[in-house]
Amino acid sequence: MENKVKELCDAASSAINAVTDLKALDDIRVKFLGKKGEMTTLVKVMNELSADEKPRVGKIINDARNQIKTLIDDKKAELKAQELQNKLASEKIDVTLPGRKIYRGHLHPLTLTLNRVKEIFMNMGYSVEEGPEVETDYFNFEALNLPKDHPARDMQDSFYITEEILLRTQTSPVQARTMQKNSDNAPIRMIAPGRVYRRDDYDASHSPMFTQVEGLVVDEGITFADLKGTLDFFCKKIFGDTAQIRLRPSFFPFTEPSTEVDVSCMMCHGTDEHCKVCHGSGWLEILGAGMVHPDVLSMSGYDPSKVSGFAFGMGIERIAMLTYGIDDLRYFFENDIRFLQQF
Ligand code: DAH
Repeated sequence: MENKVKELCDAASSAINAVTDLKALDDIRVKFLGKKGEMTTLVKVMNELSADEKPRVGKIINDARNQIKTLIDDKKAELKAQELQNKLASEKIDVTLPGRKIYRGHLHPLTLTLNRVKEIFMNMGYSVEEGPEVETDYFNFEALNLPKDHPARDMQDSFYITEEILLRTQTSPVQARTMQKNSDNAPIRMIAPGRVYRRDDYDASHSPMFTQVEGLVVDEGITFADLKGTLDFFCKKIFGDTAQIRLRPSFFPFTEPSTEVDVSCMMCHGTDEHCKVCHGSGWLEILGAGMVHPDVLSMSGYDPSKVSGFAFGMGIERIAMLTYGIDDLRYFFENDIRFLQQF
């Protein structure tokens, strides 16, 4: 019996020594000390021993059990420590490594430009109005002094949806909408930003969809000098204090007189005959404007003998191209991340 115990002890001890993971160690524990384990079986054999042998052999078996248990506990602690070490090593973080850069999105350059334009006019007390992109022929043309047979309609090839409905070709219809909304004929000082649509080919300077900002001021005693002063102030704000404006006579059916407004070239200030932006002229066309035509005022319920007004319309893409020095309109619409990241 004693030999048998010693054999089991040795077998257990060498198995424990050889083990390398906790699962296998637990299997050994079950094998030797479990309910049906080899040591437990020995205890059962003890029943066959004589009464005076029982205590002695019982002690031997008990000592052996305790010995195996201690070996298992020690090994368990050792394996656990090792496991922790491995885990620490594999999860090691070098806190001195430079961080990974997280790219943050930002506003599109057209939105940035539009926000800037809005801010300038809002600081002068203008409200911001909106009108629909799907517009009626009446607001897009007729209310702006362009009756159906008016030759100026040819200036804008339009996307018609039905005979009477089209994608607006300009933000000017918001002029008429705003005046008609004001049933009490209150004075108006508003801008109307938004998208407009024309049947243009898509190239470096044309797009079938682009962005305009309309302006309209109606009140008693509004003069051309107010228009000029407002646009001069606006250009200095957006292009810098050295910017100057130049007004050329022009024609728009809804304004009389009408003018096209140029701003002095912010790239070469008129000093470089090879300037890529102004081509040596020193001036860049940026918007159309004029005094609101009396018929436009009266068609929308204002009395032209009492009030007068000025209006203007500008393309936001053009302003953005000039302020950021971009020479191709298509960059704005193609969402190339290399382009967008620069703003
Ligand atoms: N709507 C014109 C266009 O798209 C621009 C314009 C010119 C607007 C003169 C105006 C204006 O308000 O007075 O070409």
